Amino acid sequence: MKREQWGTRAGFILAAVGSAIGLGNIWRFPYMAYENGGGAFFIPYLFAMLTAGIPFMIMEFSLGHKLRGAAPRAFSKLGVKLEWLGWFQVFIAAVIAVYYVAVIGWAISYMGFAFTQSWGADTNAFFFSEYLKLGDNAPSKLGSLQLHIAIPMVIAWCITFAAIFTGVKGGIERASKIMMPLLFIMVLALIARVIFLEGAMDGLNYLFRPDFTKILDAKVWSAAYGQIFFTLSVGFAIMIAYSSYLPEKSDISNNAFMTVLINCGFSIVAGILIFSVLGYMAQEQSKPLTDVVSAGVGLAFVTIPAAINLLPAPYILGPVFFLALVVAGLSSHISILEAVTSAVMDKLNWSRKKASTVVCGSGFVISMAFATNGGLLLLDLVDYFINNVALLTSCLIELLVIGWLLKVSDIRAYVNKISEFSIGIWFEICIRFISPIMLAIILGKNLINTVD
Ligand code: PHE
Ligand code: NA
Repeated sequence: MKREQWGTRAGFILAAVGSAIGLGNIWRFPYMAYENGGGAFFIPYLFAMLTAGIPFMIMEFSLGHKLRGAAPRAFSKLGVKLEWLGWFQVFIAAVIAVYYVAVIGWAISYMGFAFTQSWGADTNAFFFSEYLKLGDNAPSKLGSLQLHIAIPMVIAWCITFAAIFTGVKGGIERASKIMMPLLFIMVLALIARVIFLEGAMDGLNYLFRPDFTKILDAKVWSAAYGQIFFTLSVGFAIMIAYSSYLPEKSDISNNAFMTVLINCGFSIVAGILIFSVLGYMAQEQSKPLTDVVSAGVGLAFVTIPAAINLLPAPYILGPVFFLALVVAGLSSHISILEAVTSAVMDKLNWSRKKASTVVCGSGFVISMAFATNGGLLLLDLVDYFINNVALLTSCLIELLVIGWLLKVSDIRAYVNKISEFSIGIWFEICIRFISPIMLAIILGKNLINTVD
């Protein structure tokens, strides 16, 4: 059977961008920048983007394109002993898939709450106690299924499943072509409104004010590299699977540049949105900004709802914000499931319909563990391990294998043969030296922290 293909180049880029742009761009990047020198963070961030992000993306795109397989098959074609690396990455993707969907489910619920701000004044108590049923409100039995969390998760699964089941062009590409433009429009519309609020400029000042003393801090550099690997969805078997559907004639280096630049550009835009809102909130509550900044789950489900309470026309801005979160999350979720599904299809010679049904079906069942009242604890644990250990390990192994066991110059030659603009020797230096060294340092540091 002939391998499926993307319909258009734009369709492929939007799908890759859809994977890259996710919850991390909205709730992780702004905080990382703020924490690590504000405007000055952009120097290490850009450096990491150029020396790690772009070369890694070029490498994964060319692996998929050349070897025409999902990660396990692609790696097995490189050398007999490497198929396990593909399966390791697919396994990480599968783990992420089952908890990522929980957050998308929460965002779907919150989109509904946002119409009337039914989360009330104490958004912290509402989220943890009323919604997640932790603390005093906990049901007597740990692990009892919460239908109000399970149902929005089912909705998310249905959308992901529909896209994967339908196929690369008719499903994933079509979904990306709707979702990504919608996401950009929503975020720009939100910014157009909040940037004029009082205090918004103070927020942006905090985000962008450069603290150049931080540039010499090793922590800031490792934060920048960590964020780059995370934000681009590389090392997850995803970009290899997506690029395996590229037509023969494809401009690898150009596609990789576009994907990386759009993702990182979106992060900055998301930072502007979040910090305008935080600045306004600090002003309304007469608090210093440092008291309101937050990241992750706390930002999205506690701080932002509290800020929405204070916004003009909250019944419009609120649902739009959470819809943006849902769309960003779903397009990433689709890509994770495709990485797993395509690996199964390659290995077992199953049809797409069969593989997607089995993969999404089992993913759905396992994900229900996160719809219980123990869900958040489990999620924190898994998320910590994935982001701080598993992802970095997988990226590092991939770099070492490609950079040292195989010939990177072959990849460079391959890319240059089919791409419009050629990549120089810097590509090999980044893949063999700069990226693995940075990764090893960050990983070592994280492991030490974990043991502590
Ligand atoms: N790159 C996504 C983000 O920045 C995260 C992601 C994780 C995407 C896992 C796909 C799979 O949020
Ligand atoms: Na991202």
